[in-house]
Amino acid sequence: MSMRQVLQWGLALVCGLVLASADARAQIAFQPRPSNGLALTPPMGWNSWNGFGCKINEATLRAQADALVSTGMREAGYIYVVVDDCWHGARDAHGDIQPDPVRFPSGIKALAHYVHARGLKFGIYSDAGAGTCQDKPGSRGHEYQDAAQYARWGVDFLKYDWCNAEDLNARSAYATMSDAIRAAGRPMVFSICEWGLHQPAKWGASVGGNLWRTTFDIWDHWSGRGNKGLWLSVTDIIDLQPGLEGAAGPGHWNDPDMLEVGNGGMTDTEYRSHFALWAMLAAPLFAGNDLAHMSKETLAILTAPEIIAIDQDRLGVQGRRVVKRGDQEIWTRPLAGGATAVLFLNRSDTETRIQQDLATLGFSADAEVKVRDAWRRRDMPHAKSQLSAQVPAHGTQVYILTPI
Ligand code: GLA
Repeated sequence: MSMRQVLQWGLALVCGLVLASADARAQIAFQPRPSNGLALTPPMGWNSWNGFGCKINEATLRAQADALVSTGMREAGYIYVVVDDCWHGARDAHGDIQPDPVRFPSGIKALAHYVHARGLKFGIYSDAGAGTCQDKPGSRGHEYQDAAQYARWGVDFLKYDWCNAEDLNARSAYATMSDAIRAAGRPMVFSICEWGLHQPAKWGASVGGNLWRTTFDIWDHWSGRGNKGLWLSVTDIIDLQPGLEGAAGPGHWNDPDMLEVGNGGMTDTEYRSHFALWAMLAAPLFAGNDLAHMSKETLAILTAPEIIAIDQDRLGVQGRRVVKRGDQEIWTRPLAGGATAVLFLNRSDTETRIQQDLATLGFSADAEVKVRDAWRRRDMPHAKSQLSAQVPAHGTQVYILTPI
């Protein structure tokens, strides 16, 4: 072997080793995390943020847990009580995160116990950066320590935000917290709140995420954006969901953000549309209103059994928008057992008639189908070849179609 060959071979070996070890590092960093077996249907519960923001304390949280039980929402499936941003105090001398001693004087363990004693599960919030969106301590550099603390407290759910992320790589940062939760040894639903910035629909499940936000924050409006375009209305959010359907399934869901039902910025008709669209999207359903003081209508929307049944359908297939014709939209979602949920949406300001051939809804052109009105919980006359309905302004009609 000539000296030149030796040098070439040596160079190739070094390059190969460098590449191989880079590869190995990449594989170690991005090896898909096994599923935690949780959230086989979209998780349901209540979260403090939309209704209370930073104005939270242990009494508020307990009152919401009590209301989940007394209103029947727990029986309807709302299991998780999640305290969002602003529960935090400082880290102690060991670096362990502690709750705000004024707002949560009894501590988080006692609060989680209170929630568990009511047959509910307890969720908490942190952030991948050094600070949360409200400048409370984030988990950067404390991931394992924080996950261990949550496990000691009895936490069942972690929402993990993306403020102050700076130079962090999203996928790695969420993988780190996912590993930390696993190491802590207590199963927790892992809620990735990265606002869709780095396409978490593509990697959320692979880092052990059970749900991932697909957009910036919802605000309590039917249309239009707030906060310089950062807050999205219901109609803005639904327009950003088509194309993401394939990422959803049992254990891993697209999250179009929490519910605003009952918070006062929309009409009940609009809230009904918001809720039904989230059900078609197989979205996590987190009520965000004050459950201890809600109207009968708000409760009726949040507990509509046949709309919830669509959301929780065990097949776990996210619905699709199959028709967009001006202000008229039709969304369909296949359900376990061969039925199809169909939603007619009227985005216009006047009542309108929506009519569609059954072929477009996934049936044969001359099909005859059973029709069940999912809002009114009534069987309707069979539909042959086409389906039509009056739909109020900003309203929806939701039907379950079953082939005969
Ligand atoms: C971000 C999240 C919200 C909420 C707030 C709390 O904006 O997207 O859902 O958690 O932070 O500060």
